[in-house]
Amino acid sequence: MSDPVDATTTPAWARLKELRASYEPDLRGAFAADPDRAARFTRTAADLYVDLSKNLVDDDVLAALVELADQVGVPQRRDAMFAGERINVTENRSVLHVALRTPRDETLVVDGTDVVKDVHGVLDKVYAFADKVRSGDWVGVTGKRIETVVNIGIGGSDLGPVMVYEALLPYVQPGLTCRFVSNIDPTDVAVNTADLDPETTLFIVASKTFTTLETLTNARLARAWLLDGLRASGAVGEGDDAARAAVAKHFVAVSTALDKVEAFGIDPENAFGFWDWVGGRYSVDSAIGTSVCVAIGPENFADFLAGFHAVDVHFRDTPTRENVPMLMGLLNVWYDGFFDAASHAVLPYTQYLHRFPAYLQQLTMESNGKGVRWDGTPVTTATGEVFWGEPGTNGQHAFYQLIHQGTRVIPADFITVASPAHPLKDGETDVQELFLANFFAQTAALAFGKTADEVRAEGTDEAIVPARVFTGNRPTTSVMAPALTPSVVGQLIALYEHITFTQGVVWGIDSFDQWGVELGKQLAQQVTPAVGGDEEALAKQDASTQSLIRYYREHRA
Ligand code: F6P
Repeated sequence: MSDPVDATTTPAWARLKELRASYEPDLRGAFAADPDRAARFTRTAADLYVDLSKNLVDDDVLAALVELADQVGVPQRRDAMFAGERINVTENRSVLHVALRTPRDETLVVDGTDVVKDVHGVLDKVYAFADKVRSGDWVGVTGKRIETVVNIGIGGSDLGPVMVYEALLPYVQPGLTCRFVSNIDPTDVAVNTADLDPETTLFIVASKTFTTLETLTNARLARAWLLDGLRASGAVGEGDDAARAAVAKHFVAVSTALDKVEAFGIDPENAFGFWDWVGGRYSVDSAIGTSVCVAIGPENFADFLAGFHAVDVHFRDTPTRENVPMLMGLLNVWYDGFFDAASHAVLPYTQYLHRFPAYLQQLTMESNGKGVRWDGTPVTTATGEVFWGEPGTNGQHAFYQLIHQGTRVIPADFITVASPAHPLKDGETDVQELFLANFFAQTAALAFGKTADEVRAEGTDEAIVPARVFTGNRPTTSVMAPALTPSVVGQLIALYEHITFTQGVVWGIDSFDQWGVELGKQLAQQVTPAVGGDEEALAKQDASTQSLIRYYREHRA
């Protein structure tokens, strides 16, 4: 694997520095001077219509960013990813989430194995299982059909499935509901099972490694809840055989470690595999999405995968200048490197995408929140901006103040669809139009602001004119699609996967490992005995941790 190119040593970076030094953000002026600006800075990728024109760029900056991508080798590394090279160097793995959505009739041979064939082998198994649950062929141990599917997982084994399930609620089969348990806070499993009937509940234990403390603890709690409930109602007798029979009907698993699934007591027949070349945060389109597939059905799930693939093809085959994920990633690099932007807002104007920002937080920050490059040397620029957001219009009435008038540059992606899932009217008013008027107005307000003279012209008292001025030149990207279909949800995810990839390559980062989560996990194991009352273990902790644990022990009811 070639060493990363230090972006800051490239001619393109030097050019960007020069351009930044003389760049005076003036979106009003830029639009006035160029009636074609919106058209010239708009791109499409599959069904996504992406308007980049309200970003702080001109032709020279865009050209330099495109050169930067070439000079650090973004296209080459992208091609290496698609070819199955081991670009995840710290884990010595290929990075092949794109293979998860490659059509059945294509092949991709890696280390002598056609991974596309393997992918479709598992997909067929997931589809057959989903069909059985949906049709009522798969029943619980007492013969009742499944009404609730509870996915137990955390991180990528939770955030993707829950986000997509929520996004595609209108596609969920009536009579079926999914729930998601992730937190080891006992409240999560308790609250999510409290009103369920064990006879009609199916658990999917989703864990790539099948070693994750939170997931395995919750799975054991769920198994105990199931058996206690079935035994209490007399549905199932005592004894190991009865327990095994019940677990077989109410538990399935998704993992790369099928031996560990079996050791946990789940029949490998009821397990769906995937591969170490799929990162957890890139896995919702693998068997990790089984809960979603059960809910929306195989046909819709296949559309979801086709949406990913359409954007993969765009990313793979489109020149940098027209390549939407590359351009959006390069713009993020521009803001992080040259405007000190430390955060990035993602603002979906479609309620069903309400978990999308949370999903993106893992995708982007676990991927690029790193201080060393893939050859072990330190990074040379700021990396890994904080991604955050909430659905508009709720955000407008909460934190948009900071985006409009705060002192920091906060690039924001506005995402919406033309046709709503629920075309409601308020009297004669189409509510989607009211909603989208906000979407359009916000990006215009952020870009063009309001001058002091405009504020004065409204008769505002001079003393409060400054407080009512909007500087404008607050960068946004607008992403629109016809409707929130399974395909469009897949397209949006793939878009952000490849944006993240592009940024990672420019920064020289291995975007596919996550060593930064390990230390906390190790320390938690060491601290657990101290929390439980082991004085010797407590004495080994630092003074602050000791006093916090003592507080806990004194106050635990
Ligand atoms: O601890 C972080 C992490 O490894 C994530 O990358 C992953 O998505 C999550 O934990 C869950 O891991 P698993 O699917 O192996 O349970």
